[in-house]
Amino acid sequence: MSVPIAVLVSGRGSNLRALMEAEDKGQLGCSIRCVISSNSEAAALNHANVAGIETCVCAKPDPDAQLLEILEQQEIALVCMAGYMRILSPAITTPYAGRILNIHPSLLPRYPGLHTHRRVLEAGDAEHGCTVHFATAELDGGPRIIQATVPVLSDDDEDTLAARVLEQEHQIYPQAVQWFCQGELRLDGDTVWLHDQQLEGPIAHAVA
Ligand code: GRF
Repeated sequence: MSVPIAVLVSGRGSNLRALMEAEDKGQLGCSIRCVISSNSEAAALNHANVAGIETCVCAKPDPDAQLLEILEQQEIALVCMAGYMRILSPAITTPYAGRILNIHPSLLPRYPGLHTHRRVLEAGDAEHGCTVHFATAELDGGPRIIQATVPVLSDDDEDTLAARVLEQEHQIYPQAVQWFCQGELRLDGDTVWLHDQQLEGPIAHAVA
């Protein structure tokens, strides 16, 4: 059975595209029912339109009420935040607890929030990466599922580092969605279960 998912976006949409490509190849076991944006100018909306996926812009005054209505109408089983620049309120995170994933460009719990690549360079860290986690109403909070780690090179700038991390985002997000859609991944309270095993920490993705 194909799991109905919604992807929440605000900008470029490269993670959306990674999910769409994996779905096209039949790797995810899901069907992207709608792409919902906080921003009517998001390039991600064009990718969805070209693919014939329904789109919607949830704007003020109450974007979460609008979002909830769409999720319920479409009987969405999994919500994937992919560069969504809003924090979801408990109006969404409570009824959808354990059914919302987020991708973040850092090795959480390090560097929640914005400008992660710049902050990693400023701190002089030797490594950086990305994380897929179950989302809560806390900014980039929630139990972690999988992480990919990349080295920070001596000649990196924000762009080169971001590109190295993004390549890994496009690997680990489809992987987590596939696990969820296959029924291999679930959240019970604060505990992540993968393949019937309780995770003590995020899975470390083997970077090729
Ligand atoms: C990604 O780096 C994602 O991790 C972060 O926002 C960025 C979105 O990029 N949350 P894209 O729109 O998926 O290309």
